[in-house]
Amino acid sequence: METRTPSESRTIVTDLVLPSETNPLNNLFGGELLARMDRAASIAARRHSRRIVVTASVNHVAFNRAVPVGSVVTIEATVSRAFKSSMEIYLDVWIEDRESRSRSKANEAIYTFVAVDDTNRPVEVPCLVPESDLEKERFEAALRRKQLSLVLAGKMDPKDATELKALFIAD
Ligand SMILES: CC(C)(COP(=O)(O)OP(=O)(O)OC[C@H]1O[C@@H](n2cnc3c(N)ncnc32)[C@H](O)[C@@H]1OP(=O)(O)O)[C@@H](O)C(=O)NCCC(=O)NCCS
Repeated sequence: METRTPSESRTIVTDLVLPSETNPLNNLFGGELLARMDRAASIAARRHSRRIVVTASVNHVAFNRAVPVGSVVTIEATVSRAFKSSMEIYLDVWIEDRESRSRSKANEAIYTFVAVDDTNRPVEVPCLVPESDLEKERFEAALRRKQLSLVLAGKMDPKDATELKALFIAD
């Protein structure tokens, strides 16, 4: 089976926050950030699978910090694990300080994409081989998150969610 590393599909998108993209407090509108993250994640999923990809689920979003108008926002999208046809994409969002140019983490999110053929049928994707410690940590936890997402979507019986049960029930 073909394999790829996270760095082969990593996608980095840097853009400004303009006034038309903000809420009444002059901070980036949440839906605008979701759309930007969706676009970056879809590019990472497409680079990994080299197929048409569709968003299957937004598993987690944490709007930890407001992003003020005028900010330079960088979204880093990385495939954290590939399953059969689905891929988990981890998104880290950074904002850049104007004077020092140092960047600080503003938000993060996790999306699931599915690779499909021309008729929207799921197709297999290459396996992901994590390299760094962070990539390995995210890879390990991804199956648990997939099971949680499937249970919440009503697509998996909780009694089959082995990874989730292992979190709460000791042997
Ligand atoms: C995503 C889609 C192709 C999945 O089709 P499906 O008939 O449910 O196919 P399957 O049940 O075989 O699932 C395909 C994969 O998606 C995964 N999946 C489906 N729903 C999921 C969810 N809510 N969370 C996590 N993974 C999910 C399955 O586990 C499976 O993964 P695997 O092949 O790696 O094991 C289909 O639901 C679809 O086309 N949705 C619309 C996509 C779209 O338009 N997105 C933009 C929204 S505006």
